[in-house]
Amino acid sequence: MTPDELLTTTRSVRKRLDLTRPVPMELVRECLEIALQAPTGGNAQGWHWVVVTDPERRKAIGDYYGRATRAYLASKSSAGALFQDDPERAEVQRRVSDSAAHLGEHMGDVPVLVIPCIEAPRLPEGNQAGLWGSLLPAAWSYMLAARARGLGTAWTSLHLVYETEIAELLGIPSEVRQGALIPTAYYTGEAFKPARRQPLDDVLHLDGW
Ligand SMILES: Cc1cc2nc3c(=O)[nH]c(=O)nc-3n(C[C@H](O)[C@H](O)[C@H](O)COP(=O)(O)O)c2cc1C
Repeated sequence: MTPDELLTTTRSVRKRLDLTRPVPMELVRECLEIALQAPTGGNAQGWHWVVVTDPERRKAIGDYYGRATRAYLASKSSAGALFQDDPERAEVQRRVSDSAAHLGEHMGDVPVLVIPCIEAPRLPEGNQAGLWGSLLPAAWSYMLAARARGLGTAWTSLHLVYETEIAELLGIPSEVRQGALIPTAYYTGEAFKPARRQPLDDVLHLDGW
């Protein structure tokens, strides 16, 4: 795979996660070693990576995630409710919603759940780009490294509705914040395709807005 292929075909894998095939911890460690090469503000490296494989803990997280997903999908701001005035986009959104609902019912069955975290005794007031910019690029690197090794992942965040409960379940200290929940498994089927996005020129601002 070329770098461009990797970058354009790392999709959110939900329905195609293989829930039956164990993922070797060595492979997860390899992906995390690569993630640690990402930049952090001041080279602080205040990140932590909670990897959950224990079936009971995965089920507990999956239950919280499922509850949050069902509430989200029933809300007016859910992916499936967006862009209803554009039939083409509405159809894409319907598929995202359908796929998200599927993951909502199966999160706890995914063999490996990765929760990227960052030390943040207080959340900054105002713009938080400096904080999350020191965690999320590494999380994306993890997902790219996983894809390069035949693993599927999906960026998810709905578990954050229950961030406190999940922190308690996993013993995450109160000054550590969670940034995402990344289900990780082998995937079924063959290829992934680049996604259709809105045109670059709609969002490109050359020399000013
Ligand atoms: C900040 C963020 C939060 C997301 N949260 C969820 C989530 O909780 N559940 C989910 O199924 N997908 C979630 N997604 C995945 C998006 O739905 C997905 O990236 C988008 O539909 C584009 O699809 P693609 O990643 O396959 O290109 C999230 C993505 C981002 C960047």
